[in-house]
Amino acid sequence: MKRLVGEHVEFLRQYRQRFETTGAIAPSSRFLARALTRPIERHRGPVRVLEVGPGTGAVTRRIVRLLKPDDALDLVELNPSFVNVLRRRFADDPHYRRVADRATVHQCPIQEFRSDVPYDYIVCGLPFNNFPPPLVREIFEVLFRLLTPTGVLSYFEYMYMRPLRKLVSNSAGRRRLSELEVVLQEYQRTHGILRDWVFVNLPPAWVHHLQVRDA
Ligand SMILES: C[S@@+](CC[C@H](N)C(=O)[O-])C[C@H]1O[C@@H](n2cnc3c(N)ncnc32)[C@H](O)[C@@H]1O
Repeated sequence: MKRLVGEHVEFLRQYRQRFETTGAIAPSSRFLARALTRPIERHRGPVRVLEVGPGTGAVTRRIVRLLKPDDALDLVELNPSFVNVLRRRFADDPHYRRVADRATVHQCPIQEFRSDVPYDYIVCGLPFNNFPPPLVREIFEVLFRLLTPTGVLSYFEYMYMRPLRKLVSNSAGRRRLSELEVVLQEYQRTHGILRDWVFVNLPPAWVHHLQVRDA
């Protein structure tokens, strides 16, 4: 309980200091974490998992429970405060410690992250609605380069958030959100394999699961 409260307080503090990149007032619920990691549940190891934008570890907690002895996990987080929270967790929390020798927290933007070996599963928690459309395209290209041909990329977006934000945005903001819609729909149309609806989250969210498969 104490850990959960601390997590929410840290998240809210980062939301106020770095709204653009934090993008949410609270960590994801366990229902959203479960939907994001659904493809990993069925895996036969060994697999490589990449989590992008883990924040305080709301989804990481679920990932570490699903890892088998030969699996590996990389986490890429931009915000140094969240990186500290995560590193402490891998040192102190028994669930995280179980996989600490196979998990690495990288502090950098995902656009700058490089790996020689691709990933079977990528779980992405980035707040795309706050980003310029060219950056979102760049990030998706990076993520697809990091994915194996049969790998699954899972990410979430808050339900109906773009139309709602358009109502309170100026014309430049509305244009950005419309362009963003085009980019995201293009990836969903070309690569989407499944969409989950998660109502028990603040706010409710859709989870998109994508695969490389050619158009
Ligand atoms: C909406 S929060 C999600 C946190 C967590 N995954 C959850 O579901 O509770 C977005 C996270 O992405 C991180 N982030 C934003 N831009 C990033 C980037 N370009 N590269 C890596 N992490 C980024 C933020 O610092 C933040 O931790």
